[in-house]
Amino acid sequence: MYKTHTCGELRAEHVGQEVTLAGWVHRRRDHGGVTFIDLRDRFGIVQIVADQATHPEAHQALEAARNEWVLQVRGKVRRRPQGAENPNLPTGEIEVEVFQVQVLNPAKPTPFTINKDDGVDEHIRLKYRYLDLRRENMRRNLELRHRVVKFIRDYLDQHGFLEIETPILFKSTPEGARDYLVPSRVHPGEFYALPQSPQQLKQLLMVAGIERYFQIARCFRDEDLRGDRQPEFTQLDLEMSFVDRREDVMDLMEDMFTALVKTVVPHKRILQEPWPRISYQDALDRFGTDHPDLRFGLELKDISDLAPGCGFRVFEQAVAEGGHVRGINAKGLGHLSRKEVDALTDFVKQYDAKGLAYLYVEDQGFRSPITKFFAQETLDEIGRRLEAEPGDLLLFVADSNPDVVYDALGRLRVHIADMLGLRDPNVLAFAWIIDFPWAFWDEEEQRWDPSQHPFTMPMPEDIPLLETDPGKMRGAQYDMVLNNYEVAGGSIRVHDRGLQEKLFQLIGLDMETARERFGHLLEAFEYGAPPHGGIASGLDRLVMILADAPNIREVIAFPKNQAARDVMADAPSPVDEAQLKELHIKLDLPPKAEKQG
Ligand code: AMO
Ligand code: AMP
Repeated sequence: MYKTHTCGELRAEHVGQEVTLAGWVHRRRDHGGVTFIDLRDRFGIVQIVADQATHPEAHQALEAARNEWVLQVRGKVRRRPQGAENPNLPTGEIEVEVFQVQVLNPAKPTPFTINKDDGVDEHIRLKYRYLDLRRENMRRNLELRHRVVKFIRDYLDQHGFLEIETPILFKSTPEGARDYLVPSRVHPGEFYALPQSPQQLKQLLMVAGIERYFQIARCFRDEDLRGDRQPEFTQLDLEMSFVDRREDVMDLMEDMFTALVKTVVPHKRILQEPWPRISYQDALDRFGTDHPDLRFGLELKDISDLAPGCGFRVFEQAVAEGGHVRGINAKGLGHLSRKEVDALTDFVKQYDAKGLAYLYVEDQGFRSPITKFFAQETLDEIGRRLEAEPGDLLLFVADSNPDVVYDALGRLRVHIADMLGLRDPNVLAFAWIIDFPWAFWDEEEQRWDPSQHPFTMPMPEDIPLLETDPGKMRGAQYDMVLNNYEVAGGSIRVHDRGLQEKLFQLIGLDMETARERFGHLLEAFEYGAPPHGGIASGLDRLVMILADAPNIREVIAFPKNQAARDVMADAPSPVDEAQLKELHIKLDLPPKAEKQG
């Protein structure tokens, strides 16, 4: 081995020992005849020093070395002189007096500084990801990710789960995003689809009698990217047999993630234990979203019932057209200027709101260009509903489409919480969202669309609604949310063939198409399928939150950029004519297919 110790492990107790170290030059300082280097490896940083007077050759070598060169050094551990200790460094009490240096590899000047974490354009970081990963923050994120996965594996192993791999070359799965396709050479004109999740395979494993399955599973979805989405991402995927209530799965997850936080990120605090369970409708009404941030209040309040005849046309019209008027109290923000309120208006307009009505709350009452439209009793009632106090700012969105009201105010709520500094990264507000409608009506396609996937069991007491009022039928499904992100989703599954057929019918999937797409699963269900249910958690998202990272690319070693491109390897990229020919593929490109990203 090139080293007897790592750069992070030497302490006062090693003083006097001769050691061999190897690592990268993190930083170098020359002090007239004495050269200091912070030598870095994955495990830490240690100061090495060579004195021209006592070890001229070693000194010369260190003096010539540059940042990011790879060195091997032999030397003796000694206590740092008094006053020269570095309390911020675990090895800060000692240094290594070097008498032999070998340059294992020099390095070109790097395109950005490795020994600082800030201020580099992400494109450059992604292009030179192997250098970016040398930096402290990224190393810490990868370590955290490892700890999280290790904890999950150990926990599930102790609870009787088997980790089983499922294929990547597979068939279209029902999550509803676009598939990534892989052409088959052996079967010209036929394609594999990369799995959007192992959903069907894990259900088949239940039919296979595995009872408790999990996998740290790679999933592929060709969808529009955002900060919390990647085209390939990782799920903790699990499935259990002989569960009948959704609580059977939720309790296990809650127990595991609570223990995980306490072990892996003990400096973080879980806001509420047991985690709150909130119905989908309540989540929308109170927070405007089905993945709320529960670290703060600022809840939405409905004033739609006050709109008819209130005198303010914007409100009246929205409600007359079947919409809502809702508001939030931006507590204590009554000092915002008109300009700042205009900025909030621009903010909600990004989410299709047509405007933002506001009322400043003052000692004498409300101040706003719109107060003149309202009767005093209406204003008083609005004030009561929003718990207005002098110094507050009340903000309202009205729209004929309730989804716009929810979305715009839900996002404004988070934006205002940021302005008020209410989102403490060390607080983890886990919650379960339950009682989703089994299906939503798709106005465009004029059909019912499952809110999760077609294998989700309806709530048993709601099954009669399938025939009478399907929009009211709830699914036995659950989403786990954390600090404004959806971090997991799952359900109890249908294991009854007759019910499954009725559900396919509801969503307009005729049996023939269903059999084409899911025939293997439907057939398997005829051979003794146990009742089962499961869940999948977005591991990247979870680690992102635990790492306080701004997006999921920060916790993935080699992510794609926002245009789904790997800028380091330059993928995707064109392939040889010969390769295409072998696959019987002819390109038919749009006129000017410009390279994106
Ligand atoms: P779902 O589609 O809700 O459920 O996915 C589960 C979780 O995966 C994460 N996630 C993503 N993370 C990063 N990038 C993406 N593009 C992305 N898409 C989803 C989210 C989400 O909560 N088979 C079902 C689970 C089940 O029913 O057991 C499924 O995949 O955190
Ligand atoms: P206007 O009548 O368009 O001048 O708007 C008067 C006030 O109502 C302004 O503060 C607008 O931002 C606000 N407003 C306009 N449309 C809406 C809406 N749909 N919801 C809430 N406020 C609105």
